[in-house]
Amino acid sequence: MPLEKVETLRWKDGCLEMIDQRVLPARFEYLAYADAASVAAGIRAMVVRGAPAIGVAAAYGVALEALKLRAASAAERRSAMTKAFDVLAASRPTAVNLFWALKRMRALWDRLGGASGDEFANALLAEAHEVLAEDIRINRSMGAHGAALLADGARVLTHCNAGALATAGHGTALGVIRSAVETGKKISVIADETRPFLQGARLTAWEMVQEKIPVTLITDNMAGFMMSRGEVDAVIVGTDRVAANGDVANKIGTYMVAVLARRHGIPFYVACPLSTIDLGIPDGNAIPIEERDASEVTGFRDCQWAAAGVAVRNPAFDVTPAELVTALITEQGVVKQPNRQNVAALFK
Ligand code: MRU
Repeated sequence: MPLEKVETLRWKDGCLEMIDQRVLPARFEYLAYADAASVAAGIRAMVVRGAPAIGVAAAYGVALEALKLRAASAAERRSAMTKAFDVLAASRPTAVNLFWALKRMRALWDRLGGASGDEFANALLAEAHEVLAEDIRINRSMGAHGAALLADGARVLTHCNAGALATAGHGTALGVIRSAVETGKKISVIADETRPFLQGARLTAWEMVQEKIPVTLITDNMAGFMMSRGEVDAVIVGTDRVAANGDVANKIGTYMVAVLARRHGIPFYVACPLSTIDLGIPDGNAIPIEERDASEVTGFRDCQWAAAGVAVRNPAFDVTPAELVTALITEQGVVKQPNRQNVAALFK
């Protein structure tokens, strides 16, 4: 299936449908969601993942709950909607887009005041549709700004999946690559496998193969070798939360790649919509880092390879200090050497 036809999230027959990213690339299938609690469970289980996509899913979770409550009394609706916001907010802690989307939906809910159940549900659903459409527009704009940074023939390493599957479409880091390819540049991608959940091997490789953008898969511990042999021209990753000083949280292993890139004089770019910047967090130390289940490290699906009973750590994200970031690529333009001043200036 050509990827431009693939919708990571879509509204169908009164439900939110999301591609089940846990089973890709072996199977391509949608799961349907009809209320906030099930959307929250889908986010937690990684049916949908990637910061912007999680935000879009949360917006639909709120809208679905409002639709369910169309005939409820105002008091019932208030109580159930408060629970819906809470359950969605508790689904995953690191990607700030989740909280950004919930804040946006909450602000609309507050503005609706004494609206009827139908008005209330229709307005929230329209807003969720707008969050989705806006995400694609933003990714296209980031792509246009970032494409100029890549030379024709560039070999670009990426970590995790910051592609169409991590967003409503086009992608952030992979969006920059797609946009560069659209301008006629020949770009090839080196995809880190991305242990332990294998977003690189399963999702980034799949997206690139679908679009016939040349891609080479490596395990995470091969990045240094590739760089030392002069086989990487640039690194582009996405992010789950950027602190006010420009520190960047992204998939575990990103920090290692950034250190290696600096060692080898390779530019390290972070594609980052403004909805991923959290001015309320002073620096990367304050970004909440999700710890996931040990089973993701001791094995994969039905195959367990680690000794039973071994102690395990499984932080899902790490923080790359701003000093290692060559530039943030945003929908408003490229911010070189991010710091407190130039990050704040994006919001003026
Ligand atoms: O745990 P995941 O798969 O949700 O982590 C995703 C990432 O780390 C992405 O790089 C990030 O969300 C940016 S996606 C445009």
